[in-house]
Amino acid sequence: MKILVVGSGGREHAICWKIAQSKKVEKIYCAPGNAGIAEYAECVNIGAMELEKLADFAEEKQIDLTVIGMDDPLVAGVVDVFEARGLRVFGPRKNAAILEGSKAFSKDLMKKYNIPTAGYEVFNSPEAALAYLETAKLPIVLKADGLALGKGVLICNTLEEAKEGVKSLMTDKQFGSAGDRIVIEEFMTGREVSVLSFVDGKTIRIMTSAQDHKRAKDGDQGLNTGGMGTFSPSPFYTAEVDEFCKKYIYQATVDAMAAEGREFKGIIFFGLMLTPNGPRVLEYNARFGDPETQVVLPRMKNDIVEVFEACVDGTLDQIELDFADNAAVCVVLASDGYPEKYDKGFEITGFENFKDKDGYYVFHAGTKFNDGKIVTNGGRVLGVTALGTDLKDARANAYKATDWIDFANKYKRNDIGKAIDEA
Ligand code: AMP
Ligand code: GLY
Repeated sequence: MKILVVGSGGREHAICWKIAQSKKVEKIYCAPGNAGIAEYAECVNIGAMELEKLADFAEEKQIDLTVIGMDDPLVAGVVDVFEARGLRVFGPRKNAAILEGSKAFSKDLMKKYNIPTAGYEVFNSPEAALAYLETAKLPIVLKADGLALGKGVLICNTLEEAKEGVKSLMTDKQFGSAGDRIVIEEFMTGREVSVLSFVDGKTIRIMTSAQDHKRAKDGDQGLNTGGMGTFSPSPFYTAEVDEFCKKYIYQATVDAMAAEGREFKGIIFFGLMLTPNGPRVLEYNARFGDPETQVVLPRMKNDIVEVFEACVDGTLDQIELDFADNAAVCVVLASDGYPEKYDKGFEITGFENFKDKDGYYVFHAGTKFNDGKIVTNGGRVLGVTALGTDLKDARANAYKATDWIDFANKYKRNDIGKAIDEA
């Protein structure tokens, strides 16, 4: 088979790496890809949002299956564009990708189908939102309705902060039209867990659990980022939590989407909070997590292409997922200053240290080739992942491997997986 992957981050690197192990695959393309992906795939200079050009390319190269890694093209309807041209593609259609594309939609869905989540109200004007805040309980959470690079969520401890938040989202349009509408939501406490799943419209198969670290600095301080590191499995995702989610959240979400005439095929990423009152859905994403994928896929034993095809064909009920009884930790190497201001273009050295080392991976997030050298090309540069017999072993291995790589302004968190010690 010939496969095209759409995206350019660490997530897509992990997806390409996993696809490359499939017996069914002879050639992988990635649009636009990055310097690490180039080891497994031919990188094609087409942007992830150039939907028609992507479909032209898939037609021209007779691609058998296209896998969409990123949220923006899914929400923009890339799957519909491909399907209209008779091209096989893995991911939700536009009318289903709204599960991630609109927080108001997903909250209304959960309310209608009794899927446990935080209490909320939706507002279409700043005046109504401000009036509501006057009597709301603090802290309170504001969320831009649309996609905002994972940064459209504001946790406000005071009324002043909340009012400022409404102004920046709805009046000053910090995230553009994503803030035309906002969700104001009850503040919850608890541990967060990410659970990824494959869905074929009817059947859902849950992957192993993971946990992200979203803040830039140690001790969960600093600004929100795309994710500074992950571990899998989460020791807090117990059999009891799993049973609850299977009963009230996973299948219920798939069935709710089908009942709404929005059959969901692809990945549903459940962002869960384990509150004192039980698991609650924080958010849905309609694609693999980044950097959750970098710890989940190295533990997966299945041929991923078979699973992708079963989702597209509606035969996922015939597949059982199989994960190794081990653990993985991913530490992101970022450019100092991320997620605000940072320099890039620095040469990265040390990749050869990963060669022939089983269980150690370096997934590229923001890199490119420059004069035959690999240089930094983003805020998140690399995701160093290691397997281990258990979480502590995997963490020690991952941190050891972060020393194998060098570049100017290299920055990492030093406490990825600290929660493991509290389990
Ligand atoms: P989201 O993009 O919805 O996952 O939100 C980003 C982050 O904000 C989450 O990972 C949580 O840490 C936090 N968050 C979102 N909603 C809430 C909530 N209702 N209560 C507490 N924290 C929240
Ligand atoms: N790691 C969080 C996300 O992919 O949205």
